[in-house]
Amino acid sequence: MKGLILSGGKGIRLYPLTYTCAKQLVPVANKPVLFRVIEAIKEAGIDDIGIVVGDTAAEIKNAVGDGSRWDVKITYIQQESPRGLADAVKTAQDFIGEERFVMFLGDNVIQGGISSLIQQFEASGYNSQIVLTRVVNPQQYGVAVLKNGAVVRLVEKPRDPPSDLALVGIYMFDHNIFEAVNKIRPSWRNELEITDAIQYLVDHGYSVHPYVHTGWWIDTGAPGDMLDANRLVLDELEPRIEGHVDRDSKLIGKVTVQRGAEVLGSVIRGPAIIGEDTRIVNSYVGPFTSIYHHVLVEKSEIEHSIVLEHSRIVDIPQRIESSLIGRNVEIVRSPLLPKAYKMTLGDHSKVGLL
Ligand code: G1P
Repeated sequence: MKGLILSGGKGIRLYPLTYTCAKQLVPVANKPVLFRVIEAIKEAGIDDIGIVVGDTAAEIKNAVGDGSRWDVKITYIQQESPRGLADAVKTAQDFIGEERFVMFLGDNVIQGGISSLIQQFEASGYNSQIVLTRVVNPQQYGVAVLKNGAVVRLVEKPRDPPSDLALVGIYMFDHNIFEAVNKIRPSWRNELEITDAIQYLVDHGYSVHPYVHTGWWIDTGAPGDMLDANRLVLDELEPRIEGHVDRDSKLIGKVTVQRGAEVLGSVIRGPAIIGEDTRIVNSYVGPFTSIYHHVLVEKSEIEHSIVLEHSRIVDIPQRIESSLIGRNVEIVRSPLLPKAYKMTLGDHSKVGLL
């Protein structure tokens, strides 16, 4: 089998972070979501992986390289414009050829990996296998209707959802999907929907097997989703101390301190991760916080947040919470008079003041 990862898209809902970074490269528990996807595919025994890229191709290629880091072979496939998931499949036809494949959206995080799903599909004669999960907001997803355990109908982002079973961004297909993606027409949002292509398979007598996933799953499209994914992944991380923690510091619960990191005179209450060469000095880092590499947190308190590389948070009197802080960000006291908030914020920044 081959793997196909879709890693295009503009990541509009994650502005301003995604002005400078592809959304799939935002780290969750200090590892880019896309790397987690590659690892999940590799773990399922697949080492020939295509990545469909769009406007952010250069960054993705730069971060992922040729795949040797994971012992996989990566082929990049350029999608000319973001015309939908089914269009991305069309673009990948030469790469896939006649093989069966798993398609994984590069911004999805799922509990428990996909090995068992892949094995199940490989051993089966199904033309396709889709992954479904119950959600409270089916309007935001593709939704499937099952009858006696079989897929009968699929609708993309229904206003009036016929079920609460959302399509998770993991799909398995054989070559018949190419017939489907070439026959369907663009949807109201002017995209070729993979949901419509799967409906085509159902309507033309191909077998589409539904697998209902019961663990957690997050599509990390928006800041709240990012924090949710971070919380869930951190909760499952095995704690490891590779950096330096001084005797005046206290680590409580599942805390990972990565190589070269220093924790001095601080309290860290896990689950939390402190990245490589990051310094936490006289501070409190609370549960569900990921601090990426080369960050300084000094005389400050932060929890339930993600901080990206090379940022500085120094001497902040109130606790920072539920925040997504980008690269090279400075949050510091400004002692110079006049006493005022002084900010340089990019477009779409959000600041919550007390
Ligand atoms: C896409 C699919 C949708 C699926 C979702 C999962 O939505 O079109 O069917 O439920 O991914 O993440 P999009 O991210 O394009 O809004």
